[in-house]
Amino acid sequence: MRVIVTSNNEEIGEIAGGMITKVVQDKPTATLGLATGSSPEVVYASMIRAYERGEVDFSQVHTVNLDEYLGLTPDHPQSYRYFMDSHLFNHINVPKENTFVASGVGDEEECVKEFRSILNRTHVDIQLLGIGEDGHIAFNEPGQVLHNNAHVESLTESTIAANARFFANEDEVPKKAISMGMGDIMRASKIILIASGYKKADAIRGLIMDENVDVQNPSTMLKMHPDVTVIIDRPLADLVGYTD
Ligand code: F6R
Repeated sequence: MRVIVTSNNEEIGEIAGGMITKVVQDKPTATLGLATGSSPEVVYASMIRAYERGEVDFSQVHTVNLDEYLGLTPDHPQSYRYFMDSHLFNHINVPKENTFVASGVGDEEECVKEFRSILNRTHVDIQLLGIGEDGHIAFNEPGQVLHNNAHVESLTESTIAANARFFANEDEVPKKAISMGMGDIMRASKIILIASGYKKADAIRGLIMDENVDVQNPSTMLKMHPDVTVIIDRPLADLVGYTD
């Protein structure tokens, strides 16, 4: 696992965005695994800038997202489909039909079946990840067992509280999400995990400062992947005691 420490959050976006752009430059038909939440906003801004400068063409790219809230329609401002359209897809030339965000509405089993069938036919060249305060990646929450494949996950209290900032109040945060499984993430050729902010310290400490894999911090499974880059900013690195 490679760890990169940046001076600020903007630089996280530049480096992660540059890595994703490079994959597309080398392989114009690449499949990108994408994430939502606050962390990737700087990454997508950097990809949009590269596109506007004419450095990258997304016209043959496919994308698949990690997860979606259950119960939110695609036009709900907090749905992950809405997030992806407004923060990335509407600003680059990826055809909308090449982008997949799992459906959060309709029969749950059918949604999972459709997500699994897409993932069975997809190989992700580069996967972007954020990390939850409790160590979740996608919505694979800490627990006795971790799921291999796409599934419905009940969000932990910590995740609901953390995501309440996007909603009018905590009660409005969906309690369940449809999520890629750990195996789906681990099958990507390359993985980038980005984090900043003191609230991620425990999760990042477990990921980069401890050698073990712990189901109570699902991100630690990434230690078993051959090509993972963790990008954090200096304040977070200092907080967890990481020196490069
Ligand atoms: C979002 C996702 C989540 C987030 C995580 C961190 O698609 O899969 O795992 O990456 O909850 O969210 P932020 O970046 O908002 O702190």
